[in-house]
Amino acid sequence: TLKVPVVQELARHGIKDVPKMFLRPPLDTLNTCFTENFPSISMAKLRANDVEAKENELRKLGQGFGEFGMVLVSDHGIPLSLLSCVKKVIKGFFGLSFEGKKRSVGTYDTVDNMGYGRNFVKPDDKPLDWIDRLTMKVSPKESTHGLNVWPQNPTNFREVIESYAEKATELVDDILEALAEALSLDEKAFVKYFDPKSREINARINYYPPCPKPKLTMGLSPHTDATILTLLMQFDISGGLQVMHKDKNIWFSVPWPNDALLVNVGDLLEIMSNGKVQSSWHRAVTQVDLERFSLALFFNPPLSMEIEPIKSDDSSDYEYKKVVVGDYLQHLYKVSPTLSKVAIKYAMV
Ligand code: SIN
Ligand code: FE2
Repeated sequence: TLKVPVVQELARHGIKDVPKMFLRPPLDTLNTCFTENFPSISMAKLRANDVEAKENELRKLGQGFGEFGMVLVSDHGIPLSLLSCVKKVIKGFFGLSFEGKKRSVGTYDTVDNMGYGRNFVKPDDKPLDWIDRLTMKVSPKESTHGLNVWPQNPTNFREVIESYAEKATELVDDILEALAEALSLDEKAFVKYFDPKSREINARINYYPPCPKPKLTMGLSPHTDATILTLLMQFDISGGLQVMHKDKNIWFSVPWPNDALLVNVGDLLEIMSNGKVQSSWHRAVTQVDLERFSLALFFNPPLSMEIEPIKSDDSSDYEYKKVVVGDYLQHLYKVSPTLSKVAIKYAMV
């Protein structure tokens, strides 16, 4: 296996250059832009009884998911005090020494996709992304993979992330019901794939240390998520995440207000919606002198479940076919874990 440096350790030693294995051709910054009109919804309005206000939020949800594959969510109802606790335990963990983090989790693993380490590092995966990460299984509780890598230090780490995940799950359920309504489908069309006992929820913390060469590196290479939805929280700074608009060949910087969350469409929802919503093509860039954390919660059906486009009255042409969730994920990891827009052909008619 490849010997991969821990990025946080590189950054901590104040390097002026980055090792070759992280370098890539210069970013085309002309191809990146900002927009004030990034899709954003108010969960409070979506949940309230004002029909007109609700219709308006539903429209923005459908449009945002259709064009960008993501929307910002404000007034989400998750207590800000809980978000602060989440930030505190994550910073507590990443503030430990490298040995301390390894001890807290039990291992530092450069290959496996769970635990403290790196994603999918293979010799041909170069250039490497400027990121360290920590991934854990939240649900189901009897899973055999990923439950044993929760940090022991900070001692309340698991408890805090689990209570956040519980609130987040209610939010995601509500968004899936709203989306069904926005697409004129049965309210339970999406959530019925999402049984509370058997659904798969993983949590991943992405840590992007400050980088001396942001134009020549990438925090996280372009990809889509192989999920139904991913819920993202970020902290410390608002820059970093970029998303490609469906029809424009332009990267948009996500203008992410403090305390807002971001909901991201994954490949499985694209399949289930027969392409009415798009999985988002996104990447994270690095910044000089600025570190950034994000917390992703990945929501999936049970791996043994079959999914297919949901039947609706106004469509008879199905662009996607039935796939078993676990088979889709396996196919994705085989072709390339960082290029799901390639992998999704597997599920197309
Ligand atoms: C991700 O794609 O999982 C991370 C995105 C982010 O860091 O905002
Ligand atoms: Fe992602």
